[in-house]
Amino acid sequence: MQTERKIRIAVLVSGSGSNLQALLDAQGSTLVSGEIVLVVANKEQAYGLERARKHQIKAVCLPNKTAPTADEYDLALVQLLQAHQIDLVVLAGWLRILGPRFLQVFAERVINIHPSLLPAFGGKDFYGLKVHQAALDRGVQVSGATVHYVEEAVDAGPIIWQEALRVQPDDTPQSLQQRILSQIEWKILPQATEVVAQKIARDSG
Ligand code: GRF
Repeated sequence: MQTERKIRIAVLVSGSGSNLQALLDAQGSTLVSGEIVLVVANKEQAYGLERARKHQIKAVCLPNKTAPTADEYDLALVQLLQAHQIDLVVLAGWLRILGPRFLQVFAERVINIHPSLLPAFGGKDFYGLKVHQAALDRGVQVSGATVHYVEEAVDAGPIIWQEALRVQPDDTPQSLQQRILSQIEWKILPQATEVVAQKIARDSG
């Protein structure tokens, strides 16, 4: 009997990596069509690197200063991912814009999670608590998270999965961030990753 090849996933992080943790924990349950084989951070102190090592997954830091230009950085990243035969790239709190040099090679193979209901509160100025602060300032009654394909325009690629929750009258940016993470992001990122891994497997099989 022939066992199906698992899609090889790289997760890119810049910070705490709680979404990476959700993906690691989902392996074998929600996430079955792909396996995380590489974690890359652009910051030495990114705790996501530690989480990967605890799971015996290769963790590599490619600091921003590795390359003098964005284009050269993208090229170094492409080479790293290609050396590990990566099929799917998941951005999980990756705070660096990927340019055409990268996205042409991994077209339709890069997904991102963003902590709002895109297209609201998306774009290069919306990251971290700023997203939730802007949502509260605008007085929205629902917010949530979105998993989408990554294209050159920041946070604007096709939407794969979205879920919402109600904003509470006493929410702060911190409380909203925490609820969206724990109730939505950690759930939908593994679900959406599985959907995309299945699609890549179908398309390549
Ligand atoms: C998450 O809110 C994610 O939506 C955004 O960055 C944050 C990363 O958090 N892109 P973590 O590093 O996964 O804890």
